[in-house]
Amino acid sequence: MLRIEGLTAGYGRLEVLHDVSLAVPLGIPTVVMGANAAGKTTLCRTITGLIPARGGVVGFDGEDITRLGCAERVRRGVALVPEGRQVFGEMTVRENLRLGAYIHGEPRPADYETVFGLFPILQERENQRAGLMSGGEQQMLALARALMSRPRMLLLDEPSQGLAPKAVEQVGLAVNAIARTGVAILLVEQNLALAQMIARHAVVLENGRCVAEGPADQIMSSSAIQDSYLGRRGN
Ligand SMILES: Nc1ncnc2c1ncn2[C@@H]1O[C@H](COP(=O)(O)OP(=O)(O)OP(=O)(O)O)[C@@H](O)[C@H]1O
Ligand SMILES: [Mg+2]
Repeated sequence: MLRIEGLTAGYGRLEVLHDVSLAVPLGIPTVVMGANAAGKTTLCRTITGLIPARGGVVGFDGEDITRLGCAERVRRGVALVPEGRQVFGEMTVRENLRLGAYIHGEPRPADYETVFGLFPILQERENQRAGLMSGGEQQMLALARALMSRPRMLLLDEPSQGLAPKAVEQVGLAVNAIARTGVAILLVEQNLALAQMIARHAVVLENGRCVAEGPADQIMSSSAIQDSYLGRRGN
């Protein structure tokens, strides 16, 4: 579904991603783990076209999308749930959802039905200002907003950030439900509990390079990886 080869990207004179390659098949939810500043968000931005690739290829569904704009990538089915959620706090839940469908003009009633089926709380709060909801509810809204674009692949940038364990578990259940509807999942996470709930395949990013890759349970149970790459030492 997604195939990245030799990807290089950065900001100004700073090169952050160096020759990153990974593949996310449909039906094998994949996690990219890595400590702070490893380049996880930069990877999400490069896949979605928010920043340009300096080298390498982003392939989606067998096509080279490396040079396409963000909107065209969304149109093809790549959706991002951004770091920090970035819901529009002054707008209602429904208005946030409507924006998620901008690529299609106006949402269809079926789009709302789909996300309200997955997240009944959003229907209850439909007309409430998004900023008044809890962090967990706002994360659900960020997920639902991404679904409004009718994605075939969802990128999730640290959806556990700032959430209590109970809310993290709800995010995990929701992502697994989305995966069962046939949406490919690329999760970026430092939270082991969430990664274990969702992912079957794992990639470890260290200083912008892939340093380990394999079945999620093997990668996550390796103590060397827990210590070195997830910044657990001293935490
Ligand atoms: N807009 C930017 N301009 C310049 N440098 C940036 C920018 N965004 C990130 N960086 C730098 O790129 C490197 C990788 O950052 P990135 O946000 O991709 O890491 P991350 O793995 O997502 O970290 P975190 O776990 O803290 O979210 C860092 O050194 C960071 O300071
Ligand atoms: Mg980040």
